[in-house]
Amino acid sequence: MGGLVGGLVGSRLAQGDPLRFDRRLPIPPLIDAAKQGNAVKLKVSSGRHAFIKGRPTPAYGYSGPILGPAIRMRRGDEVQMTVENALGFDTTVHWHGLLVPGDVDGGPHQVIKPGGSWRPRLKIEQPASTAWFHPHLHHDTARQIYMGLTGLIIVDDGSDARLGLPRTYGVDDVPIIIQDRSFDSDGSLLYDRDPDPQTIQYGLRGSTIIVNGVVGPVAKVPAGLVRLRILNAANAQNFDLRFSDRREFRVIASDAGFLSTPVSMRQLRISPAERFEVLVDFADRNPVMLETGPDTLMGIFGAVSPDGSADFVSIMRFETTATDGTIGEFPVHLVEPLAVDPEKAVRRRQFVLDSGICGGKRPTEMGMLPGLCINGKTHDLDRIDVETGIGTLELWEIVSLGMAHPFHVHGASFRVSSIAGAPPPAHLAGWKDVVLVEDKAELLVAFNHGATRAHPFMYHCHILEHEDAGMMGQYVCA
Ligand code: C2O
Ligand code: CU
Ligand code: CU
Repeated sequence: MGGLVGGLVGSRLAQGDPLRFDRRLPIPPLIDAAKQGNAVKLKVSSGRHAFIKGRPTPAYGYSGPILGPAIRMRRGDEVQMTVENALGFDTTVHWHGLLVPGDVDGGPHQVIKPGGSWRPRLKIEQPASTAWFHPHLHHDTARQIYMGLTGLIIVDDGSDARLGLPRTYGVDDVPIIIQDRSFDSDGSLLYDRDPDPQTIQYGLRGSTIIVNGVVGPVAKVPAGLVRLRILNAANAQNFDLRFSDRREFRVIASDAGFLSTPVSMRQLRISPAERFEVLVDFADRNPVMLETGPDTLMGIFGAVSPDGSADFVSIMRFETTATDGTIGEFPVHLVEPLAVDPEKAVRRRQFVLDSGICGGKRPTEMGMLPGLCINGKTHDLDRIDVETGIGTLELWEIVSLGMAHPFHVHGASFRVSSIAGAPPPAHLAGWKDVVLVEDKAELLVAFNHGATRAHPFMYHCHILEHEDAGMMGQYVCA
C-alpha cells in the first residue's frame, strides 16, 4: 500500500530540504467593480510564475501570471464582465457561488474559443459571501485549475461595517487560497493530461501545499482580530486545518453567507471548493503556523498527508506587524440565515455518487478512459437529468460510494438538513453550495434562478478528476 500511496501523492518537493517559510504571502489584486463602473475585464492567459522561490515555470492566470484578482461585487449591482481567452485552447469561466441564471453561469456549454471573448452580465442579488471563479470545460477542468486558474469573488452587501468585522482587504481581511501541487525538479507543475485510473479514482493529490500560489508563505497581520477567507481550491484534497498552538478561531461564514453566530473551533475540515470565513485573534503577537492534517477520507488508502506521512504538515506562517488590530472583540451575533421550512420541500430525489468505474467509457485524444457516475450515468452534455421549478424547494439525498465526495450544485444554495443521519454541526448549518458527503446527506435546495436546455445548471462532485470523468449531472429550472 505504501508504494501506491507514494505514487498517488507524488514525490516530496524537497527530500531532505526542509521547507522554509520566508516568502511574503502574495495577496491577489482587488478589483472593486463599483469603483470602475461595474465593468470588469479578465484576460485568461498563460505566463510564468515561481511557485517555488526563484524557479519560474509555466502557469495560467486571469489577468496575471497565476490565479486571478479578487473581484468585489456589491449586492444590487449589475456587473458587466468581459472575459478574453488568450490561451491557445478552449476554456469557460464559471462563477462558483454566484446565484445567476444558467445563461451567464459559465458552465461547460459556454465555451470561449481561443482569441474569443464572452460578455456575461451578472446581476448580484445575494447576501454577502465569498465565491470564486474557475474554468469548467468539458473534460479539461482539472488541468486548467491545476495550472492556476482560480480567482475570488467577494459579494458585499454592506453588512461588514454593521457587524463590526475586519474588512480591509489584504490587511485584516485576507484571502487564503489553499491548493496542493506536485513539482518537477525544475519547479514546474506535474500534471498528466491523461491521468492513470488510480488518479481518476482518488483525484490528483500534490505533495506540497501552496497558499495564494506560493510554497512556504508568511502572512504579516495586525495584532488583533483578522478575518481569513479560506478557499480550498485543490483538485481533490480535503484539508484539516489547525494552528500549531491549537489556538481557537471562530467560523463566521460558510460558502453562501454568514452563520447566525460565530462558531468556536480549533480544527476545521475544508473540502474542495468549500469556503469558510474565520476570525483569528493575533493580539498575543506570537508567530504561529497554519497546519493541515492527513486526509482521512481516501477510501482504501486510509489517512494520508500531502507529504505521504500521516502527520500534520505546516502550510503557512502568521507573524504580526507593529500595528494593533482595529477590531478587538469577536462579534456575538452575525446574520440570521434566511429560514427554510422542510415541510415546503416539493419533492425528494436521490443522487448516488460512485467513484467505482460505472461502465461508461469516455473518449479522449489519447484513447478511452473510464467514466464515473451519478445514479449510474456518466455526464452527458446533451442529457438533462433533472427538471425543477424556480421558487421551489427540494430535498436532495446524496449518497457517496467508494470515498467521500464534495457535492456541489450550481445556481442554487442549500441547507444541510442531515449529515450521516444527524443534524449538521453548527459551522455547516448555514447556506452552502458544497458539502463533503462521507456516506449520506440530505440537502434542502432552494431554486431561485432559471436555466434552459441550452444552458443548464450542473451538479457534480467537486473532486476535479471525478467531475472530468463524468460524475456530473445537469438540471433545468423554469
Ligand atoms: Cu466550482 Cu461546477 O463548479
Ligand atoms: Cu459552481
Ligand atoms: Cu467524487
